[in-house]
Amino acid sequence: MKSYKFALVGATGIVGQTACKVLEEKKLPISKYAFFASSKSVGKTIHFLGNEYHVEELTEHSFDEGFDFAIFSAGADIARKFAPIAVSKGCIVIDNSSAFRMDPNIPLVVPEVNSNELKNHNGIIANPNCSTIQAVVALKPLDEKYDIKRIVYSTYQAVSGAGSKGILDLENGIKNYHKHNDYSLQKFPYPIFNNCLPHIDVFMENGYTKEEEKMINETRKILNKPDLKITATTVRVPVSNSHSESINIEFNKDFDLSELKDILKNSPGIILQDDMTSNIYPLAINASGHDEVFVGRIRKDFSVPYGINLWVVADNIRKGAATNAIQIMQNLM
Ligand SMILES: NC(=O)c1ccc[n+]([C@@H]2O[C@H](COP(=O)([O-])OP(=O)(O)OC[C@H]3O[C@@H](n4cnc5c(N)ncnc54)[C@H](OP(=O)(O)O)[C@@H]3O)[C@@H](O)[C@H]2O)c1
Repeated sequence: MKSYKFALVGATGIVGQTACKVLEEKKLPISKYAFFASSKSVGKTIHFLGNEYHVEELTEHSFDEGFDFAIFSAGADIARKFAPIAVSKGCIVIDNSSAFRMDPNIPLVVPEVNSNELKNHNGIIANPNCSTIQAVVALKPLDEKYDIKRIVYSTYQAVSGAGSKGILDLENGIKNYHKHNDYSLQKFPYPIFNNCLPHIDVFMENGYTKEEEKMINETRKILNKPDLKITATTVRVPVSNSHSESINIEFNKDFDLSELKDILKNSPGIILQDDMTSNIYPLAINASGHDEVFVGRIRKDFSVPYGINLWVVADNIRKGAATNAIQIMQNLM
């Protein structure tokens, strides 16, 4: 069996560290690993598969020794600068940032949904936004059968989606709330503990946030429906990990609710949790640490001819980032 050389860029971050865990679990045919981060992480070690690796500073020469694959989780600026360098040295890059997602020449891939797009890559594959990934895993099988006409997204997003500073704001809020201590916010414009912030990423002129725009545009690209009607409200909530989403869907075709549930139950990457007689529905605390997308609270929307509501939950760091990127790499291997 062929074995590959692999580099992880952003290895010290939340997504990078989770990628290490997922790689350990998957036991892929990789014979050489390298772990890159900024200069401030030089000297740190990563314990991985029973070995100790030194974190290396990412430089223009990091890819000189030749890698087959690299996963980048270090933000858009780093991706824009270093991904083309890696590709010029023969490396295939899977990037977790927003840098290349809407580039028409770069595939935006969720393996359960559009792995066929991987054959069109020119060295870079974009990993979608975390909130989009879990949504399209649930939407794709329904679109194939009933032809989606319109989507309304409302999200309830965990602080881990805002990186380590987002987690710190929630932890500091919990620690200090009852003591009435002041503490400085690292990430969010307002306290996140005991609060909900209808504000993820920056505001744009049209009144939407960039996160909302990403969900709308990335869904259209992945489902290959450029004119699909979609609207979104994305909200940060005081949950450590795993994003929850209310998705309202209108179809062009009529459907049978039990058949629709069977389709979801039998689709790749989905676990159906939909039994109201036993209070079974997806929960953030149960999705954390798993790679699947959990779907439940499935019911008809009686306000339109052919509509439903879904509750969709997934671990935003695993399926929403690290796992999805590694699944893309597995597909290419
Ligand atoms: N968190 C999520 O739910 C999520 C989901 C999907 C996608 N993403 C995307 O994944 C990326 C990483 O997110 P994260 O949450 O893991 O952020 P994070 O915890 O802040 O980690 C950022 C990583 O980037 C590295 N980095 C920063 N500047 C660098 C430089 N100049 N050269 C090399 N490495 C550098 C950091 O290294 P140092 O430790 O040395 O600074 C660290 O390893 C972002 O693009 C984010 O948008 C995140």
